[in-house]
Amino acid sequence: MIVANKTSRLQVQPKTHIKVIEKTFSNNSDSDYTEKLAELGNKFNYASNSNYYWGDRDLSLLYGTPLYDAASETQKLALNHLYWVGNYNHTAVSEATTSIYNMVTTGVFRAVGGYDTLCRELEFETEQESYHIRTFQKIGFKSKMAIVGKTILGNSLYGKSEQENPNNLLKSLVPEPVQVYFTSKKGSSPFSRDRDKALGAIAKMMLRDKQQYYSQYLKDLEAKGEPIPAPSDGLGGRIAPRYWLQFFTLHWGMSPFMACQYYSLRYTANAILKNQEYPYVRYFRELEQKDEYIPTPTAVSYYHLLDEAFHTTISQTIARDMYKDFPAPTAYEKFISGAIVAQMQRNLLSGLSGILPGRCVYDDEMLMVFYYKLLTSPLFGMEKREALDWLEKCVCQEHQGYHTGLKYHQSLLELMRRLFNRLDYQWSINRDMGIMAAGGSIEKALVKNSQTFKQFSKSMLAQES
Ligand SMILES: [Fe+2]
Ligand SMILES: [Fe+2]
Repeated sequence: MIVANKTSRLQVQPKTHIKVIEKTFSNNSDSDYTEKLAELGNKFNYASNSNYYWGDRDLSLLYGTPLYDAASETQKLALNHLYWVGNYNHTAVSEATTSIYNMVTTGVFRAVGGYDTLCRELEFETEQESYHIRTFQKIGFKSKMAIVGKTILGNSLYGKSEQENPNNLLKSLVPEPVQVYFTSKKGSSPFSRDRDKALGAIAKMMLRDKQQYYSQYLKDLEAKGEPIPAPSDGLGGRIAPRYWLQFFTLHWGMSPFMACQYYSLRYTANAILKNQEYPYVRYFRELEQKDEYIPTPTAVSYYHLLDEAFHTTISQTIARDMYKDFPAPTAYEKFISGAIVAQMQRNLLSGLSGILPGRCVYDDEMLMVFYYKLLTSPLFGMEKREALDWLEKCVCQEHQGYHTGLKYHQSLLELMRRLFNRLDYQWSINRDMGIMAAGGSIEKALVKNSQTFKQFSKSMLAQES
């Protein structure tokens, strides 16, 4: 009798992760950080913030390079502001991706049943992201216009660039993530249509026993004849080509295990953001303590981190614990999960930048184009040769910036291992973040980045003749 009572008590007791989800949802809905952040975005005025650093000096473009040391105080302030702008422009794009995948996976959890609070939390998060995106873009647009005018409005700080048309930028102030970020920029050729069909058929065949969980969100898109969503920009867009991401989307939108697995990638985005956002929060607190003026963007970072802390808890809880609610992954699901995380490590985390502190990928030509435009803009006013000479010193020589980059790489590695170490279904190279760890080397970065610079410089000089 006693045993039976004990058993039934155990059965009604909600699991720890369900309690965490409920508590997070309740705290998140009671908080007013989103409202505060939106208000700051509406009131932002560059001129009232232009004479202040918005965060630690090392979160500045070109920090630690010989050029940074030679820069004037005005230029240093601008580099600090442009770092914030670039970072949050990238965050805005990545959060648009998150919003889509929140909807894809919510469809699966609803089909499974019993996860109502989680679904409400995810819907609430999606709404919060739309306010975050709008705020980042409002501040970003006004700041860029004030610092460098229309000359370098395209933001290629993190890779794939937007079109350099101020009207496009204005349009993107309206958060319509589906339209802006998920519409294929390339038309579909018969080849790509066949390829996409074949990949779709493979996914559906391999997951045929999970069709009852197929996300309503994806069903609705299919009914409208719209393509399976996949990011073409931001963090997500860097992981793999669009057709592979669409293939993965089908997995995350059909199998309950895979829907949970997606949250290990969302955690990665949370960790990358936190790694750079937390120093702004520390800076905010220091200013508050000293009773000094707090620049609006610093306050936005502060409130954003508070909102994102809820999202990080949810990512972690689903990725680390909730997946155990469902049948163990099949060999196929394990393979797909391993492949995507290895690919994510390779494309997002396995290098060091010499000119953009905290960016854990090697410098690419797109980033060099961005810097070339910055150096030839009125802010630095350099000629072509002079700009290339300076860039060479910043990219190809060891300097403090590389060491700062390594510091951020190491703190991110720790955050990543905290989750991935605990995923027993993952490949060992993913559990210990082996690919990422191997990229934390200044020697390797100098070789790689110098090679890219040589290519870049050659093509720039060729345009001269
Ligand atoms: Fe956000
Ligand atoms: Fe978020």
